[in-house]
Amino acid sequence: MNTVAVVGTQWGDEGKGKIVDLLAGDAEIVVRFQGGNNAAHTLVINGEKFILRLVPSGALNRSTICVIGGGMVVNPFALYEEIQNFKKRGIDLDRRLLVSFDAHLVMPYHIAIDRAREKQLGKRAIGTTGFGIGPTYEDKMSRQGLRFDDLIDWASFKDKLERNIKEKNLYLKAVLKAKPIDGKELIAELQKLRRLLLPYITDTSAYVAKATRDGKKILFEGAHGTMLDIDYGTYPFVTSSNCIASAVYAGGGVPPGRLDAALGISKAYTTRVGAGPFPTEIHGALGDALREEGAEFGSATGRPRRIGWFDAALARYAIRVNGLWGLALTKLDVLTGINPLKICTGYKIGKDSYDTMPPGRNALAKAKPVYEQIEGWDEKPDAARTMDELPANARRYVERLAELCGVPIAMVGVGASRDATIVVTNPFQS
Ligand code: GDP
Ligand code: IMO
Ligand code: MG
Repeated sequence: MNTVAVVGTQWGDEGKGKIVDLLAGDAEIVVRFQGGNNAAHTLVINGEKFILRLVPSGALNRSTICVIGGGMVVNPFALYEEIQNFKKRGIDLDRRLLVSFDAHLVMPYHIAIDRAREKQLGKRAIGTTGFGIGPTYEDKMSRQGLRFDDLIDWASFKDKLERNIKEKNLYLKAVLKAKPIDGKELIAELQKLRRLLLPYITDTSAYVAKATRDGKKILFEGAHGTMLDIDYGTYPFVTSSNCIASAVYAGGGVPPGRLDAALGISKAYTTRVGAGPFPTEIHGALGDALREEGAEFGSATGRPRRIGWFDAALARYAIRVNGLWGLALTKLDVLTGINPLKICTGYKIGKDSYDTMPPGRNALAKAKPVYEQIEGWDEKPDAARTMDELPANARRYVERLAELCGVPIAMVGVGASRDATIVVTNPFQS
């Protein structure tokens, strides 16, 4: 297969970055197609940790071309900082980072609005990352947004920006009772930054479409997860973009129908940061122990992640809406020593039973999980590189998940580092 998407099947942080980094060894191009620096993708290579926010997780493979697609919203200051941080660590992105003309710019007023709204919502807050993502997508849809394309003509960019600052500052002060942003300072900073970013800006959609025609191996890196998708997730407790595989077409530039496969990434259990329904959530000591063992604290915001059992009903839903070819199961090692383990096989709402997402998005908040128990294991699986090398019960657990989900398990993660992975099937080699 030549064109493969990696998408999250849960509420984000499934370990997409690690799998993308691993598969990037076989890809010539890695494309991010939605979201912004609300994403935080962690790679551990030879003991060194990298957290990627905007730059695709293929960046550590020095020959890979990294594309920031038109469906993304990009904080230009954060992007420049990320490029510089890479440079300091000996990784040069010049000439191999391509930023789409069409990607929208996250501005400080978007961040201020995001944070002030969350504050105003109080207990009803979404729990956003506070990086201005929602307000930027709002401006995109209401046609007030600023794009990388606009940076090319400074005079007209400045004019649009000034109008936006005026309007947003009025809104911040009058409606949100928040501090306005310093427009003059922003304009001066952007005038400097613009020159540094112009060399990266290009028509990535034309580039990706041609690469697809030429039969190049292209990996599309999803951010967040299916349950955070603006349409298919647990609205309103979602992010502001489509995170599912079909977003590759609009946001990545690949012509419709040209994606060969979508690989879903799922933890061997479940986590969620931020508010919203979470049927298999584990409260108390066991949840706390798993959080510590799995280092489940947000890489973007440091917030403790909520922990839950693996949810096969939601996995089936993610498999349907993404048309998944297979699953990569991560963090199996974290479940070592927990006995028994529980797997959610479906839900009950009153007398009704469901084996997937119940109809009506609000229903999930009322869904009571139905569990089956399975025996755990005590031997660490960290050194396993084939399914046969897994502790017998760990292998049984993986096989049971595959059976419940109805798709093959293509990879299993047994540690944070790049090599701590069992590769059953590599989509680029099949
Ligand atoms: P992403 O947003 O989907 O890329 O995931 P994050 O990087 O935010 O969170 C996943 C975390 O789990 C990171 O700290 C990874 O280093 C770590 N991780 C990924 N796969 C595994 C695994 O198989 N085992 C363990 N122990 N950690 C893993
Ligand atoms: P990666 O790509 C986990 C969540 C936030 C919040 C909701 C809306 O690292 O998996 P936003 O700032 O996007 O408006 O917040 O979405 N969220 C994520 N949770 N991992 C992510 O990205 C997330 N991106 C957004 O916590 O609940
Ligand atoms: Mg993450």
